[in-house]
Amino acid sequence: MCSILGLSSDRDVAPIIVDSLKKMEYRGYDSVGVAVKNESEISVKKGVGKVKDVNNDIQMDKMQGHSGIGHTRWATHGGVTVENAHPHLCNSSSIGVVHNGIIENYAELRKDLEKNHNVVFKSSTDTEVIPNLLQVYFEKSHDVKRAVMDTVQRLKGHYAFVALFKNGEMVGVRNHEPLILGIGENDLLLTSDVIGLPENFNSVVYIDNNQFVIIDDHKHKIYDFQGHAAQFAIKKIPKNYQNVTKGEYEYFTAKEIFEQPDTILVAGDEDNDYLQKIVDFIRDSDYVYVTGSGTSYHISVIAKYLFSRFAGKKVEHVMASEMKYSSRYIIPNSTLFAISQSGESADVLEAVSICKKKNAKILSMVNSKNSALARDSVFSIGLNCGPEIGVAATKSFTSQMAILYKIADKLCDGCLAVDFKTVSDAYAKMLSDTSKIQELAKAIKDIQNLFVIGRGIHYPISKEGALKIKEITYVHAEGIAGGELKHGPLALMDSSTYVIVINPDDDSYVDNISSVHEIKSREAKVIGISNKPDPSYDYWIQIPTIREDLYPLIEIIPLQLIAYYLALERKIDPDYPKNLAKSVTVK
Ligand code: G6P
Repeated sequence: MCSILGLSSDRDVAPIIVDSLKKMEYRGYDSVGVAVKNESEISVKKGVGKVKDVNNDIQMDKMQGHSGIGHTRWATHGGVTVENAHPHLCNSSSIGVVHNGIIENYAELRKDLEKNHNVVFKSSTDTEVIPNLLQVYFEKSHDVKRAVMDTVQRLKGHYAFVALFKNGEMVGVRNHEPLILGIGENDLLLTSDVIGLPENFNSVVYIDNNQFVIIDDHKHKIYDFQGHAAQFAIKKIPKNYQNVTKGEYEYFTAKEIFEQPDTILVAGDEDNDYLQKIVDFIRDSDYVYVTGSGTSYHISVIAKYLFSRFAGKKVEHVMASEMKYSSRYIIPNSTLFAISQSGESADVLEAVSICKKKNAKILSMVNSKNSALARDSVFSIGLNCGPEIGVAATKSFTSQMAILYKIADKLCDGCLAVDFKTVSDAYAKMLSDTSKIQELAKAIKDIQNLFVIGRGIHYPISKEGALKIKEITYVHAEGIAGGELKHGPLALMDSSTYVIVINPDDDSYVDNISSVHEIKSREAKVIGISNKPDPSYDYWIQIPTIREDLYPLIEIIPLQLIAYYLALERKIDPDYPKNLAKSVTVK
């Protein structure tokens, strides 16, 4: 979603804000803006596009002033225009605001501000009501703290914002969206994510829900929405979470795909105790629901296949955004196992809150151990794969799957005994020569539709492969359970159609070969991902032969690579596909 930043320092803040915004762009990247307070006013520069390009055009980093705010946007209300880009100023230009989230009652607030306070709105965003409400209340009390307390009383929805006042004070407010206060030697920085912190910062405070921070004269105070001083803990910044770079790679997506031989070896490792606790919880629960969104939802489906096959435990997967429609009855003594790379997806947090109200206990699997989801859980296991910046989840998916295997193994008293070194070696082998996949990407670069089929546990992998292709190549791709082909999708097959068949040599092999023949009879082309060749394949993407139950862990790699190289062929930046964002913090 959007990223928000506010920096108070003893030096010019604009270049630091622009640098931090570049690192936070994965949260939204359709437009960008910076506002700084100088001697006499708050000045704003903003534009449509990526931070680097907008900055080249309008030099946001040359603005002068020791306090400022910045924003990268993922549009929710109002189109992608300069007017709708943040920061937004109040009518008297004395307060600037950057905001992440949604103000649900903005239409009603807008009407009130127009009618009773003569406010003239300049954008079609929900955000612009915030600086104007702050102005109304600040003019009444001349007190920033009071103005914030009065303003938050009027706002409905999930939001975090940073407001810069012309008198030099800065405020960060958190209501369900992330907000972190970074503490540097002479700098204080409010940010949506620790990734935004410059290298010279070493401590952070994770602002709690319904709290706000006031920064004045390089000092900070934290209050709850009733105005009481809040308790807070100063923590060290998690290692690996600063100075995130692409290394030798052109794109984060490539770096993250090629890191997998290493990340698979350490999945969940920092939290071995938690792993056992999670296993005990699952064992003792009468029922387990598993939830997630996007890629993390596919992991929930894999959990169902893995746990029922190897651990004799039936679990139910529920798409996080569907929880509110399917939770009227939650079996007593249930556990909700919530899966989310970011730990911030609004749909997942909502599913958690619904299940908590029905007395379910919450377990989670996250990459960010300080995320809202981790803090909302009884136990939370970390992926330990380092920050993932590319919008398409890659290394987090294989780490999540590895942790599921570890849990299933403990549930079945060691029946799986996975040697992750073998998996890591298989990854290294597949990644060492990608020439065949690059050739394939060239050959299919102009396709419009692609199907991916798989059976059993390979079915969620087919959904995940199709999601990667959709997300970063804009080709319409569908993951289908092999047996369902004849119940509809075959109607779409002709000589222009390509079908990827996930076909490892296991109990799904023979049925898949039948599907291959059905597809070929309709003149469609088949791309077989398999350890075994077959004369019916138009393209054979070979995967290493490995123990049968480990194929799900390895067959996703060629699918990630097909998506990546196809994106390059189609001249799409895989890190920042249009209309998407890495961390979706709105419902
Ligand atoms: C967004 C991303 C997806 C991701 C999903 C869930 O839609 O674009 O790649 O899978 O959010 O994210 P989470 O952080 O909850 O795993």
